[in-house]
Amino acid sequence: MKYKVPFVNYPEHYRRIWNEVISAISNALSKGDLILRDDVKQFERNMADFIGVKHAIGLNSGTDALYISLKAVGIEAGDEVITVAHTFVATIATIVQCGAKPILVDIGEDMNMNVDEVESKINTKTKAIIPVDLNGRLCNMEKLMKIAKKHDVLIIEDSAQALGAMFDGKKAGAFGLTGCFSFYPAKILGAAGDAGLLTTDDDKIAEKVYLLRDHGVQRSTGETLFYGINSRLDNVQAAILNVKFRYLNKWIERRRKLAQLYHRRLSNIPDLKLPPPPSNNGHFYDVYQNYVIRSKKRDQLVTHLRESGVEVLISWPKPLQHHKALGLSRFHLPTTEQVSNEVLSLPMYPELREEDVNYVADVIQDFYDR
Ligand SMILES: Cc1ncc(COP(=O)(O)O)c(C=O)c1O
Repeated sequence: MKYKVPFVNYPEHYRRIWNEVISAISNALSKGDLILRDDVKQFERNMADFIGVKHAIGLNSGTDALYISLKAVGIEAGDEVITVAHTFVATIATIVQCGAKPILVDIGEDMNMNVDEVESKINTKTKAIIPVDLNGRLCNMEKLMKIAKKHDVLIIEDSAQALGAMFDGKKAGAFGLTGCFSFYPAKILGAAGDAGLLTTDDDKIAEKVYLLRDHGVQRSTGETLFYGINSRLDNVQAAILNVKFRYLNKWIERRRKLAQLYHRRLSNIPDLKLPPPPSNNGHFYDVYQNYVIRSKKRDQLVTHLRESGVEVLISWPKPLQHHKALGLSRFHLPTTEQVSNEVLSLPMYPELREEDVNYVADVIQDFYDR
């Protein structure tokens, strides 16, 4: 049989923790604990402690975490919010859904927001900046926080891909007024479906978020204080996430080990640009949500990998400013364009075996040796 390396491997992921997960689900179901019960509270405590923030609030998705963040901090029509185009569409969509205007800046070689471009885009309408911690690596948060402070602009972190990542020892989601996380199944910590979380140190914002996720209803009085939405994290998902939380540090270490191996095997190929290898003593502690490499021969390399049984993904082949319906074509973002033509994501998850990484590396080497 032909060797195959899947891009994700949910069956193997669940096989390893099957009994614990099934027992958490059956425990919740047998108690009838379905909406906003102890598992959600426990998960919120786990996340707040892990990230190092006062409040962590469970929501339906990472998209909702962004939308509710923008609502909670008061973003409205006429406001401008600075972010990047090299991201999942949710980052920009939620700005538009609040009636505000997205202002896009280019990315740097690390594929994250080019912080040096931000200041020139700030004006009196600018209310917030959303840096995206893409692929499990933060932006230069020291520089960005200084700019935000100088101009009195809020930071909302899109940390959907960066649970556990750090800059100067501080975790993603602990820098901004709010931080937004996704537990989409393929994430570092993945639910068995959709789930998300918002972090903040601000009591007033937290209060607003608890209300926004539950239709604006104040549970103590029954009074509806404003129009909100339903974005409660399901209790059963929280129960599953609490099981997986026990493995989180181990899974992050595993991703870093695999990244080290990819780096060792691929760093001698001149056409490839690789993510920095894991480091413990620089500014960045990366968690490798994705292992994204760049190649000038990307499309041929992708075909060769797929023909050899290696599943790869391209995130994203067409930059968001080129999707006509989104109305973003006025932004000129040369690095975003170039990166879109060159990126490919290799398999990266804790269940991936060393021999799988070596196989992927052999296939890539073979492509360049032909
Ligand atoms: C950078 C980024 N932002 C936002 C989201 C949205 O999260 P969700 O899929 O949980 O709504 C994702 C999810 O893939 C993401 O990668």
